[in-house]
Amino acid sequence: MSYTKNILITGGAGFIGSHVIRLFVNKYPNYRIINFDKLTYAGNLKNLKDIEEKSNYVFFKGDICSTKDLKNVFTTYSITDVIHLAAESHVDRSIEGPMEFVMTNVVGTVNLLQTAKENWIEEGHVFYHVSTDEVFGSLGSEGLFSETTSYDPRSPYSASKASSDHFVRAYFHTYGLPVKISNCSNNYGSHHFPEKLIPLIINNIFNNKPLPIYGKGDNIRDWLWVEDHALAIDTIFHNGKLGESYNVGGLNEWTNIDLVKYLCKILDKKLNRSEGTNEKLITFVKDRAGHDARYAIDASKLANDLGWKPSVKFEEGLEKTVDWYLANMDWVSEITSGEYQDYYTKMYR
Ligand code: NAD
Ligand code: TYD
Repeated sequence: MSYTKNILITGGAGFIGSHVIRLFVNKYPNYRIINFDKLTYAGNLKNLKDIEEKSNYVFFKGDICSTKDLKNVFTTYSITDVIHLAAESHVDRSIEGPMEFVMTNVVGTVNLLQTAKENWIEEGHVFYHVSTDEVFGSLGSEGLFSETTSYDPRSPYSASKASSDHFVRAYFHTYGLPVKISNCSNNYGSHHFPEKLIPLIINNIFNNKPLPIYGKGDNIRDWLWVEDHALAIDTIFHNGKLGESYNVGGLNEWTNIDLVKYLCKILDKKLNRSEGTNEKLITFVKDRAGHDARYAIDASKLANDLGWKPSVKFEEGLEKTVDWYLANMDWVSEITSGEYQDYYTKMYR
């Protein structure tokens, strides 16, 4: 079989990456999808069990910080395009240890850009960098992040992602590398590692453990169904303009406390507990250092120029997410043993 594209997807064993891989492998049998992942604590090949036997899917274990691994995968599979998702992605971990974030998110991204630049002599390639709205900093009660909002990252995680975005743009302007960028709000859905708010709360409710809310719980996030993010990536990869960036968001703002209370209600029903039982588990804990107050996205450029908009309502997506976790508690148990226990004790003691 000769493929029309050989797309390297980095971080494909992670939360969002696995959804992007699944979408591309199923939707584009003429593309060969090469999943390049180091399999850190956040990477799990079980996230891709349903598509691992597909003939247009390949897994390559490698580190974006290793020039050798990248050269190897580019030459072995004649890589034509990159969708770059590999990253250290958790803000709390970045506060505990920023250097890992500098290495993977900054050095790893530059390494990948450099490898693409050296390998792509002729035209027709795409280097698509997947980034976050956190690069724009923190909003007050009014306004939305647009593509022209100035960068103002405030956590080590967002500073490392902002830096990687700048390098991607630098490779476009300096070397003409054909790049695209998107900056997305908080995702939720299946296969989300239970260090992040939604899966952590679901897992703790299930296990009758305290539900840790940082500060007063009034910080606001704009939540997007992960499969809608994957569809946005598909749209931008195929139709987005080179050198441009697109904001992706759910127009779906929730305070953390309202969201957690809502999850408590859903799970009271699903676990046959009387109304109000799970809310009693809510525990206010010390606030995150430098905690960004509010993120909210203006995704009108993506809607107007490329016709993307979110398809799944939050209430529906959240219920589907809860159902997925309840049906896959063995997936959760496996990844919450070992290193996760040490992490949890250190963060929430
Ligand atoms: P994740 O932590 O679930 O997965 C990251 C993946 O990258 C894992 O499979 C891991 O093994 C892999 N990886 C880490 N370091 C690597 C390295 N050095 N070499 C190769 N692979 C490596 O992350 P996620 O939540 O799926 O996020 C994916 C991307 O999307 C990230 O770039 C993140 O910044 C961005 N993003 C995430 C969100 C969100 O809500 N989760 C929102 C916007 C943007
Ligand atoms: P998180 O899922 O870590 O995403 P991000 O920090 O990238 O937005 O956190 C979402 C929000 O939930 C954020 O305001 C921090 C808060 N939070 C808690 O209150 N308790 C927790 O245990 C966690 C993990 C997050």
